Amino acid sequence: MGAYRCALPARNATADSSPHSTIHSPHNTQGILPMPAISAENLTKNFDDFVAVDSISFAIDEGEIFGLLGPNGAGKTTTISMLSTMLKPTAGKATVNGCDILDQEDGVRKSIGIVFQDQSLDEELTAYENMDFHGRLYRIPGEQRKEKIGELLALVGLEDRRHDLVKTYSGGMRRRLEIARGLLHEPKVLFLDEPTLGLDPQTRNHLWEYIERLNREKGITIILTTHYMDEADRLCDRVAIIDHGTIIAMDTSQALKNQIGGDVVIVESPDPDAAADVLNAPWVANIERRDGSVVLSMQDAEHHIPEIVTDLHRHDIAITSLSVHNPTLEDVFLHFTGRSIREETASGMETMRMFHQRMRR
Ligand SMILES: Nc1ncnc2c1ncn2[C@@H]1O[C@H](COP(=O)(O)OP(=O)(O)O)[C@@H](O)[C@H]1O
Ligand SMILES: [Mg+2]
Repeated sequence: MGAYRCALPARNATADSSPHSTIHSPHNTQGILPMPAISAENLTKNFDDFVAVDSISFAIDEGEIFGLLGPNGAGKTTTISMLSTMLKPTAGKATVNGCDILDQEDGVRKSIGIVFQDQSLDEELTAYENMDFHGRLYRIPGEQRKEKIGELLALVGLEDRRHDLVKTYSGGMRRRLEIARGLLHEPKVLFLDEPTLGLDPQTRNHLWEYIERLNREKGITIILTTHYMDEADRLCDRVAIIDHGTIIAMDTSQALKNQIGGDVVIVESPDPDAAADVLNAPWVANIERRDGSVVLSMQDAEHHIPEIVTDLHRHDIAITSLSVHNPTLEDVFLHFTGRSIREETASGMETMRMFHQRMRR
């Protein structure tokens, strides 16, 4: 248990028929060879004429938390469905834990735990019974099963409620139980599809802590999908931003934000076109029109605020509002797509420093 890994090519050390064989060639198949936990190459899925996932490629290191961030319909679930062998790709290839998703489906399935959007717990059973049932499916021997269930329920903070029926559980508790259940067979890789969808902010925070903990304490590689910017930002070592089935940017959250060119300043004005013309200064890294406002990126925005105000004033251009914030992944998405991901919780996460607060000082 736990050390499962597909051997490289078809050769497998344990398949060697001669116990006295002295040919120990590439014998390091027990996890010594460095190998990405997941690698995808030009992975593609068409539904009839519609291209849901369009030739995406990436590699995820062991122990990484990797996020697929994108709006609804971007192709996130389709991507992890292919990686987890639930859906056949139209083209391209991928390996999970060294196992080919087409030729070594069993190996992939042994290597992964999955928590998909549709919950699949039995409401009429207790948490323990749900876990036990799953453990039997995976043929985990009795004592070991019992011990493992205890350990995992503790890991997700459900040990006190282990004998309560799942129908009495809150949404967050159910999600935690599903995650614990997905870990019962000690997978090396965990797939989480929109793990905090529909949960309230406090419960989401709580769940993030558990996800971080199991990554840290168990070294499990996690690939999660989300359309929440703050979730990707908080949890993921690296993020792939996916839109219309294509990866449009992939890096650490910080590196993605750095690509924007510093702080984000939003100037609202009755005449945004004129404002944009005036504000096109050398210290502005990027300037965009967005609805009725001008969005500027620059280093050290606080030093340029007085200049922005006086320049506009000199040209008789009114300012309706002015705000400054550190870039978020929302800004990154906007930068690359020209559209907003319609992220309802982002504004609460931004450090908004309003113009008049500043000017009163
Ligand atoms: N079985 C299917 N048949 C046809 N179209 C599908 C099917 N599954 C997904 N799609 C379409 O593929 C696109 C990507 O879907 P999905 O991967 O579920 O997106 P996401 O998880 O990012 O919201 C969507 O436009 C969706 O409607
Ligand atoms: Mg989805």
